[in-house]
Amino acid sequence: MRCAWSGFRLTPLLVLLLPTLAHSTADRTDHDIFCVESCSVALKKVWFGDTNRTEPHAAPRECYSNVPHLQSLYLCGGVYCGREAVDEGLAAVNQTCRDVVDRPLPSYDELIGNLTEEDIEGFPRFDVDGPSFEGPVKGPVLPTEGLVEIWIRTLAAQAYVHYYHRAYSWAMGLFWAAVVAIGVLARMVRSLEIRREESHLSPWGMWVKRIISTPASFGRRCAQDYGGWATVPPRLQSLIILLFIILNVGCSIHGYRIFEGHMYFASVTRQILRHVSDRTGIISFANFPLIWLFGMRNNVLLWLTGWDFGTYNNFHRWVARVATVQAVIHSIGYTALIFREGGWDYFAFWWTFWFWWAGQLATVLMCAILAFSVYWLRRQQYETFLLIHIGLSVLVLFTMLGHVSIFNGEYDVFVWVPVLIWAFDRVVRVARIAAFNPRFWKTTRAQVTFNPAADMIRLEVPFSSSMYRPRPGTFFYLSVLAGGDSNFWESHPFTVASTSNVGPEAVVNETTPLLEGGRCENTHVQAQQGAPTSDLGTEYMTFLIRPYDGFTSRLRDVAESQWPKPATVRMAVDGPYGRTLPLRRFHHVVFVVGGSGIVVPLSYIRQLTSSSPAGPPRVVHIHWSVRQRALAAEILQEPDLRRALTGSEKVRMNVYLTGGDDTVVAGGTCNDDVPDEGRVKWSYGRIDAASVVKEAVGEAADASLAVVACGPARMADDTRSATVEGMRDGKCRRIEYFEEGFQW
Ligand SMILES: Cc1cc2nc3c(=O)[nH]c(=O)nc-3n(C[C@H](O)[C@H](O)[C@H](O)COP(=O)(O)OP(=O)(O)OC[C@H]3O[C@@H](n4cnc5c(N)ncnc54)[C@H](O)[C@@H]3O)c2cc1C
Ligand SMILES: *[C@@H]1O[C@H](CO)[C@@H](O)[C@H](O)[C@H]1NC(C)=O
Ligand SMILES: *[C@@H]1O[C@H](CO)[C@@H](O)[C@H](O)[C@H]1NC(C)=O
Ligand SMILES: *[C@@H]1O[C@H](CO)[C@@H](O)[C@H](O)[C@H]1NC(C)=O
Ligand SMILES: *[C@@H]1O[C@H](CO)[C@@H](O)[C@H](O)[C@H]1NC(C)=O
Repeated sequence: MRCAWSGFRLTPLLVLLLPTLAHSTADRTDHDIFCVESCSVALKKVWFGDTNRTEPHAAPRECYSNVPHLQSLYLCGGVYCGREAVDEGLAAVNQTCRDVVDRPLPSYDELIGNLTEEDIEGFPRFDVDGPSFEGPVKGPVLPTEGLVEIWIRTLAAQAYVHYYHRAYSWAMGLFWAAVVAIGVLARMVRSLEIRREESHLSPWGMWVKRIISTPASFGRRCAQDYGGWATVPPRLQSLIILLFIILNVGCSIHGYRIFEGHMYFASVTRQILRHVSDRTGIISFANFPLIWLFGMRNNVLLWLTGWDFGTYNNFHRWVARVATVQAVIHSIGYTALIFREGGWDYFAFWWTFWFWWAGQLATVLMCAILAFSVYWLRRQQYETFLLIHIGLSVLVLFTMLGHVSIFNGEYDVFVWVPVLIWAFDRVVRVARIAAFNPRFWKTTRAQVTFNPAADMIRLEVPFSSSMYRPRPGTFFYLSVLAGGDSNFWESHPFTVASTSNVGPEAVVNETTPLLEGGRCENTHVQAQQGAPTSDLGTEYMTFLIRPYDGFTSRLRDVAESQWPKPATVRMAVDGPYGRTLPLRRFHHVVFVVGGSGIVVPLSYIRQLTSSSPAGPPRVVHIHWSVRQRALAAEILQEPDLRRALTGSEKVRMNVYLTGGDDTVVAGGTCNDDVPDEGRVKWSYGRIDAASVVKEAVGEAADASLAVVACGPARMADDTRSATVEGMRDGKCRRIEYFEEGFQW
């Protein structure tokens, strides 16, 4: 639609950064910019019998125009735009004509220099209704001033709208760049603050923490779902998402010039349909790279900001939802436009174009992805969800490539960037697996045992060949390559509960029983105590896995069915992922965990109780609610935990048995092994997170406090809101809430 006239083709970024400059290029009005072009476009309606272009797109039409045509053009320019404007406006075209087809335009003087006022008066005119000249026109003709004006208005409006199409397609990326920049800045400030181990914050910092960055969006619900259909992210994330939605709505409704008499789209409705459809289509597509970036396991931004995968996963979902809504508007808008223009026949005609139905298909597929991503399916059928998700995403990229094929590659980048992001993620995954086990021909063999009474799988993975040591709080994606009826493509995240005892701390009182109650005779517990059997070597990490219905249940079956025990499985280990929380920098650390969430305190306990990297003297208090008494017994035998509980006055543990019928749960030999004195306190019933946190706040008095939650949604939410409460009571003490979710 645009010809070679458009003077400004700055790079899009520059256009966005310097909007005012780009717009008022040295105070040139729309008239100055578009007048000559308007003459040219207006004259397109007249047939001068010009030489036909041999190669349609090699050079502008003007290069082939005959004398009456050029005379009309120059005259129109001279009369309505001014002499200078003609030269200026034609300079670029002239240049192209010379360079490409070696046909320079004749000069102004040469063509119309000796025309008199009367000559000009005498030439025929034509108006918006169009010229009614017979056959090829032999002499100059002129559009009326009104026609030139309406063309100027039309071209200016088009340029304006297109400018905002471009600018707003960049706005999405810039918005997230700003969010990430703020995140990086906040991280730096925070790490300084944490490094200085101050126990107080500025009132302002405290306010931000208490009102914005810690609480749930509304009320107390955050990890808990709403009726099994949705969850609402924490407040800070919700705010960012809200801003993003506002930005998208703004960018979809601003930046148009709509008026009666537009030369391309006569009615206001058509203009609205066309422009809004274009805009939403472009923005939707511009959101694609973000959707892919935020959805990846290996996401550079994750490393930059230190935000966890769950956070980016929320962004991933919301950007995708916004993009899908935009795609729907785009498709419906164009369909409506076509119906208005030519009804069913015309509509059917469009379906003969591959790009058209590829686009319609892409929209339908995007909606299907949303539909197949409902909370319910993600929770109940994770693997099905993942398979559909990936399959449909590939199809969306394909169809979108087909859809934008009409633009000669201008928009292809929005397909290739997601493809690159995706490829990068997969390559890094493979690299991580290789780095974990450089001798890939000897696959990692892990030992797996299952304790039915505890309902817990114990997986021991050797890591002596790994290029990096697992750090507290990090997690690995595990895939079973062979052993049992495994699906080798499935990979599931699990937190490292502990690593085998190596290093100086290992020798410390390994044999000291936790309490005088004696050791548990349970075979499973024994198996783990004497764990480093021949296969594992000296360095291995332990995962504690609660079996559910899929991957984890097959792992349990392997553990139970293989003989001799312990069973071995070949694994691919992708990791480590996640971050180590800066818990060492707090004076008091309180864990509120449930069930398999115990792996989080287990994972940190050695670091928190070791004195090697100096930090504040720490008080560690673990509150753990657990259904199986046997599991409690097994966990209390963990060397790291035992050492911490016996070695240091400052470590305490409260176990809350929620199993109800303990005669059944306790089962056999372990019954009286459960210790009930010393630093482990036993009680029955749920954890009262509110009072646990309150007590911790009181106990920490003037010192800094970290509250870490990992457990059922309800427990996590209670802990979160209790911590917010504590922040209010604690004045400006440094209190921080961390949540390690096992679901996203
Ligand atoms: C960072 C992180 C650390 C974790 N650490 C541990 C741990 O140390 N010990 C432990 O027992 N569990 C842990 N989990 C939970 C564990 O990943 C799931 O229980 C496991 O993936 C379930 O597999 P399944 O096929 O048996 O599940 P299913 O029976 O199919 O589903 C059970 C639940 O797990 C979710 N889920 C299934 N697959 C995945 C997946 N690939 N990624 C995320 N969620 C999934 C489902 O949405 C569903 O809610 C962790 C989860 C995360 C996200
Ligand atoms: C240009 O093409 C049109 C239609 O194809 C034809 O009618 C006309 O005669 C051609 N003009 C010249 C100068 O060849
Ligand atoms: C086009 O270029 C030629 C040669 O450079 C020049 O003579 C002519 O005046 C130019 N025409 C216009 C309209 O500027
Ligand atoms: C301009 O003047 C020249 C001679 O002076 C003449 O040959 C030419 O036809 C004139 N052009 C027009 C358009 O009248
Ligand atoms: C190991 O435990 C014994 C008592 O059981 C104690 O005397 C000794 O000091 C402990 N060793 C270390 C290094 O803590």
